[in-house]
Amino acid sequence: MDSRVNSWSPSIEFGIPEIDDQHRELFQLAATFRGHGDEIRVMKALAILCDYAKVHLRDEEELMARIGYPDIEAHRQAHSDFRRMLRHLLQDARSLTLDQVADRVEALINGWFYNHIVRVDKLYIPMVIAYKAYQARPREIRPLGRAKPILPATDQTPE
Ligand SMILES: [Fe+2]
Repeated sequence: MDSRVNSWSPSIEFGIPEIDDQHRELFQLAATFRGHGDEIRVMKALAILCDYAKVHLRDEEELMARIGYPDIEAHRQAHSDFRRMLRHLLQDARSLTLDQVADRVEALINGWFYNHIVRVDKLYIPMVIAYKAYQARPREIRPLGRAKPILPATDQTPE
């Protein structure tokens, strides 16, 4: 895993608001851990962060299923890894100092999650864009075929 940490920036937006907004919100939540707060506030913030992350992962998985993304299983596996790391952080948090919790949150969101966005999420985004474009396409108006006569044609003309 790449251990570099990165801040959210517009450069990691995909132009898909429902995904970009959730990504940005997770970074905003993660940014509240550093330098202030008491244990109760930090534990609450951690629970909110983990819940929000789970909702985001579920929404992404639903979106990938809806568009028929072929690599969904590998992506789901990456999400499962992330859920497991979040669970471990929640379990460990009570025995950590607040600075250690902030370090772990930073490693998860600004490290792991950032890399996931720029390397793994980006792989399914072109399909979302294509799917949305297809959904938004103007419905063509098909010309009506020549109407079939109700009665069989006859070459006998009335006298
Ligand atoms: Fe993802």
